[in-house]
Parts: sequence; structure tokens; C-alpha cells
Amino acid sequence: MNKSKIDVYTLIKPEIEKLKKNGCETASLDCRLLLSKVIKKADPVYMHQDIFITDNEINKFRALISERAEGKPVSRIINKRSFWKRDFKLNEEALDPRADSEILITTILKYYPNLHEKLNILDLGSGSGCLGLSLLEEYKNSYVTFVDISEKSLQIAKVNAKEFSLADRSKYYNCDWNEKDWDRNLLEFAEQSKFDIVVSNPPYIPTNNIKLLKKEVKNFDPMTALDGGEDGLIAYKSIFLRLKNLLKDKGKVFVEIGEGQQSSVSKIGIENNFLEIGYEKDLSGIVRVIIFLAK
Ligand SMILES: C[S@@+](CC[C@H](N)C(=O)[O-])C[C@H]1O[C@@H](n2cnc3c(N)ncnc32)[C@H](O)[C@@H]1O
Repeated sequence: MNKSKIDVYTLIKPEIEKLKKNGCETASLDCRLLLSKVIKKADPVYMHQDIFITDNEINKFRALISERAEGKPVSRIINKRSFWKRDFKLNEEALDPRADSEILITTILKYYPNLHEKLNILDLGSGSGCLGLSLLEEYKNSYVTFVDISEKSLQIAKVNAKEFSLADRSKYYNCDWNEKDWDRNLLEFAEQSKFDIVVSNPPYIPTNNIKLLKKEVKNFDPMTALDGGEDGLIAYKSIFLRLKNLLKDKGKVFVEIGEGQQSSVSKIGIENNFLEIGYEKDLSGIVRVIIFLAK
């Protein structure tokens, strides 16, 4: 099909208006990202750039804008989200990684400044693999075991590991941390080699609050990645019960928490013989990460 030359602004202006009318706060960037996807350009097109595009591609672009107008996040339309230093592929069972979770990475870098260290890391509830794979990028001699109840999310984490040439330092284990003996089975899988670090961003939204989330989240992120049970704390309770068995002596746990959960999660850690040794806040001043030491 013939391509015609058109200025990006002329093409996307009406689409920006359409998204804005639907309450989209990032209308201009979203249009540029979706247009780039359609014309297969790796970086977002500029607003005042000439591009060459077919009628077919224009129709496809408008169809994607309609999906966005209905509330589907751009990351779900293009199945990709940037996190730390990479673009992570997503599928419907992998949480769309959040910028706030990068605090887990900066915190671990603060506690383990030697990038040459050989760390055995466990990523509990790994989703797209964004946490463990970002750590492997930084710690070139380290290994990560990715654990998730969703086999499909483990598959996309594997795809990402391969894409970033990190597959040879990654292992994948499908299990439910609510099941009996999951820790023992995991250790068997890991050939009894215990972990230096556990990193986890478990589901922590109280069930009744899920309906209050933005439709971009509640309609498109997997429920297993969000739902933390009645009090939002079910995952922490299950995980901490078994963490001591999985960690080396003086091993550390880095967990992400939701707003207002600091004292409850600290209590869970302390009840399970961990020492809280620090916490980190996000840019809004909310405590987002707690660090525990195995006593
Ligand atoms: C909030 S998401 C975090 C995903 C990823 N680590 C991130 O930060 O983007 C929580 C993850 O925990 C997994 N998960 C939830 N319940 C689980 C369980 N009982 N056992 C194992 N994994 C579970 C979900 O499938 C999901 O991938």
C-alpha cells in the first residue's frame, strides 16, 4: 500500500482531543506511543515530525486510540512497560510494573553496594520479572530464582530474561505460597542453596478497596497480583511464616508495602523472628519498602 507523508501533529490532534474528553491525563504522549507502535518505530515519534504512513496504518492507529479511550492502559495495548533500565514485555497475567517498585532496586543497591558480589536472590511473586531481572542487570555475578503462582507470568519473565541475555542466571518456579511445604519444595528445586536476599512486591490491596482503584488498574491488572485479602496482609503472613527457612544466616528481606501498612507488616516480620532494620519512602513521602534482617 502507498505511504503518504503527514505531519504527526495534524494526525494526532483530533485523537488527543478524543482521549482528553475521556479523562486521559497523558493524551499527547499516549497518542505518540500508539502511533509509534503502528508504524513500528522503537522510540516515540515527535509531535512535529513528518512520517510516512499508509491508510491501513492510520485506521489501525485510530482503533488503538478507541481502546485507550475505553480505559485500556497504553502498556496493555503495546504489551510493554519500561522499568529501571529496560522495556519489559507483559501479558495478561503479569502486573504492569509500577515506578514506585523501583525503590526496591535502589534500596537493595544501598544495602549491597558491591556490584561484584555473588548473591543468591529470590524474587517472590515475580510477575514480569521486573525486580529480579533489574537486579541481575546490576549484580553481574548474581543469580535469581523467580517464583509466581501464575505460570503465564513466569513465561513472560523468561521471555524478558532471554531478551536481556540474563536467562543463564535465572531459574523459574511455579508455586502457591499458601500451600503446605512450598518452602521445602522450593529449596529442593534450588538444590538446598539458601538465599542472601528475598525481594517481594506481593499483592497488598484490601479486597474491599479494589473497586475504588482506577479502571486502568482494576480492569486490566490481574486480580491475583492486586488482591491482598480482607486486610491486605494475607500474602505477608504466608510469606513470612516460611522465610527463615529460605534465607541464609543474616539474609535480608526487602518488601514493598501499601500506604499505611508499615506497622502491620513490621509486626508480621517481628513475630516471625525478623529484625526491622530500615524503611524507604516514595516520592510522595509514603513508606513503600521495609527491610528485615533474619535474626
Ligand atoms: C503485585 S504483583 C508483583 C509483580 C512484580 N514483582 C512487580 O513488582 O511488578 C504480585 C505477584 O505475586 C503473585 N502471587 C500472588 N499470589 C501468589 C501466591 N499465593 N503464590 C505465589 N505468587 C503469588 C502474582 O501472580 C503477581 O505476579
